[in-house]
Amino acid sequence: MRIDLLSPASFAAGQPHDQYRWLREHAPVYWHEEPAGRGFWAVTRYEDVWTVDRDFQTYSSEPTIMIADPSEGQNGGGFGPYKMMLMMDPPEHAGFRKLIRSEFTLPSARLRGERIAALARQIVDAVAARGECDFVADVAGEMPSFVIAELMGLPLDDGRELYKLTEAIHTAPEAQAPGAGGAAVAKMFEYAAGLIAEKRARPKGDLASKLLAAELDGRRLEDPEFMLFFLLLVDAGGDTTRNLLAGGLLALMDAPEQLAWLKADLDARLPAAREELLRWTSPVIYMRRTAKHDAELAGSQIRAGDKVVMYFGAANRDPARFDAPETLDLARQSEGHLAFGAGPHVCLGQHIARIEIDAMLREVLTRMDHFELAAPPEWLPSNFISGPRSMPLRFRAI
Ligand code: HEM
Repeated sequence: MRIDLLSPASFAAGQPHDQYRWLREHAPVYWHEEPAGRGFWAVTRYEDVWTVDRDFQTYSSEPTIMIADPSEGQNGGGFGPYKMMLMMDPPEHAGFRKLIRSEFTLPSARLRGERIAALARQIVDAVAARGECDFVADVAGEMPSFVIAELMGLPLDDGRELYKLTEAIHTAPEAQAPGAGGAAVAKMFEYAAGLIAEKRARPKGDLASKLLAAELDGRRLEDPEFMLFFLLLVDAGGDTTRNLLAGGLLALMDAPEQLAWLKADLDARLPAAREELLRWTSPVIYMRRTAKHDAELAGSQIRAGDKVVMYFGAANRDPARFDAPETLDLARQSEGHLAFGAGPHVCLGQHIARIEIDAMLREVLTRMDHFELAAPPEWLPSNFISGPRSMPLRFRAI
């Protein structure tokens, strides 16, 4: 089996489940060469991914969670001395996470439920009568951009523009114009700088205003710290949710009997189905850690400084954890899947994501029917985030 978990080509039609399967069976902690780097350990079994993600004392999120090492003089997830909380370890990480945690609890997420349901209706209203759409751009992508705009207190159109930038940030450099990813980050920061001025002058009840007023160890956030928070939130909640929705619908179209089962009692079956679609699609392909000291992982000797990369989609199809994992089974108990990660960095937005997913699936599946691809879906050329970036669809309005 040729193993290549770096080339975006390996992810050009979804995740490379044949490679994952081989790795789990033959080399669950596999030394992966890296043409432009020093190589890394690819971890593909459920139990090992679970262990690495939770053991922050051995496996650090610093300096970066991306496979590529930061270039000389740069840090991996920020600029100057500043970094994103995704790339921090406890206890520093906990202080930052605490600043926004209350906005993301289950009760807070539920308070947004009605508004999210109304947005879902509005999104489907705009396409239902047309009988065709690009499901990614017109439906799946609309929801996360609206939600981030609402959270941050921005105009909805700005949410849409920012969200386009996240796609450029997640696309592999070799699959787009040189510098496009960096330019997108720069635009995001420029927007965040404008937002700081606006929200300081006219604070409201939104998360951006709250973050600017919040205190961390008795001081306010510095502008670059706010900007990195902003980038993280826009980035983390954008094409992840979009890809779950688009990849999820694609999976349902491939399994019509499953789709029919779900629709036969949508309200009761949606929670289990949503978790199974999360397990199945695993939109975040990997997170990297860096070993702080020598350690043994499933028989492999990890050395201090080694890069250790967790493949969530591979862990989520580990037969040691899930029965018949390569079968989509919406009725299964998929709890414990690792699509949202685990440990101190476990997805902060997971409750909001679940509410978004449920609202969109409910709206789509009760108002649209007879889905048919109008052209083959095109996948995001990325080894980091997985999902279709366009999915032309014909359907019937119900
Ligand atoms: C289907 C949708 C989503 C998926 C699959 C997903 C997945 C993930 C994963 C795998 C991580 C890293 C966990 C780890 O390292 O163990 C993460 C972190 C994070 N996610 Fe999500 N996410 C989704 C939606 C969202 C949404 C909607 C938001 C916010 C509105 C969000 C905000 C975050 C943040 C802030 C972090 C960083 C947490 C930290 O560093 O402490 N995510 N997410």
